Amino acid sequence: MLLVFGSINVDMAFDAEVLPQAGETVMGNGYRISPGGKGANQAHAARLDGSATTLVGAVGNDAMAEMALQALTTAKVDLSHIQRLNGQTGCAAIVVDGQGENQIVVAPGVNLAARADHVSEDVLAKANVLLLQMETDYSQNTALALRARQLGCPVVLNNAPAKPLGVDLLQALDVLIVNQSELTMTTQILGIRASDPGVLVQTLAQRFSFNVVLTLGGQGLIACQPGQLPLMLPALIVPVVDTTGAGDTFSGVFAAALVRHQSFEQALMRGLVAAGLSCMRPGAQLGQPNFKDIDAALAAYQTLHRIER
Ligand code: RIB
Repeated sequence: MLLVFGSINVDMAFDAEVLPQAGETVMGNGYRISPGGKGANQAHAARLDGSATTLVGAVGNDAMAEMALQALTTAKVDLSHIQRLNGQTGCAAIVVDGQGENQIVVAPGVNLAARADHVSEDVLAKANVLLLQMETDYSQNTALALRARQLGCPVVLNNAPAKPLGVDLLQALDVLIVNQSELTMTTQILGIRASDPGVLVQTLAQRFSFNVVLTLGGQGLIACQPGQLPLMLPALIVPVVDTTGAGDTFSGVFAAALVRHQSFEQALMRGLVAAGLSCMRPGAQLGQPNFKDIDAALAAYQTLHRIER
């Protein structure tokens, strides 16, 4: 089972030709209200890819809560450990431009009140992989990662939105997933400097003995295991409609593949292909592919790039 501890939001997404500058008003073409939140998106992606998935997090006691949990319920993510707290459900304001790029502001609401001790020893013992992101409280993530480590459960952290990571959390990780700006934040604070992202990824992997994945959007990804050279995988070429949540789809599907004991490289490719497919449709969770879509696109991707299965 994949255990995701993380945020649950409602996304208010506006389509506009261009993203607004500071102080500027731009006219949009339309808007959507749909379920989101990095933790929820990752859990949803993993479940659509066929993994038994438990999500632990919090929603408020407002009208948004039901909308936030709708797609997760339909997909049969285990929501029995979701806390319903006094306060607001997390909400994100998103603008998507004509190229599918976005700007996001998140009001976390009760996501910051989700507690790691709500994950019982029983639930943690059943987890094959723990997946975390950074829209919940940092200290709760650290506490849960340390408990998982003690039980021998691999910990995957997507440092998004990026926070400076302490050594205690870093030492509890098996995989760190970051995008370019998140890599910069993560390495600068550790005093690791290099202009080549491959060198940054390799140095980080070596220093902390974990696997590092740098997602590069339309350029694919760079990944590195300790003691090895970085490897680069190209992105799936797709007509891009909306990149919102593409990184979450990657993280969820990647972690689901690890639960099924796929190799690091197989899990990278599966996540990469799933993330590409998710950019073809609007919405974070509503745009995510299922395992059949991923299987088909993965076979084509491997043939195109002559990658052995
Ligand atoms: O990564 C995309 C997500 O970031 C959105 O769904 C939004 O809710 C924010 O958490």
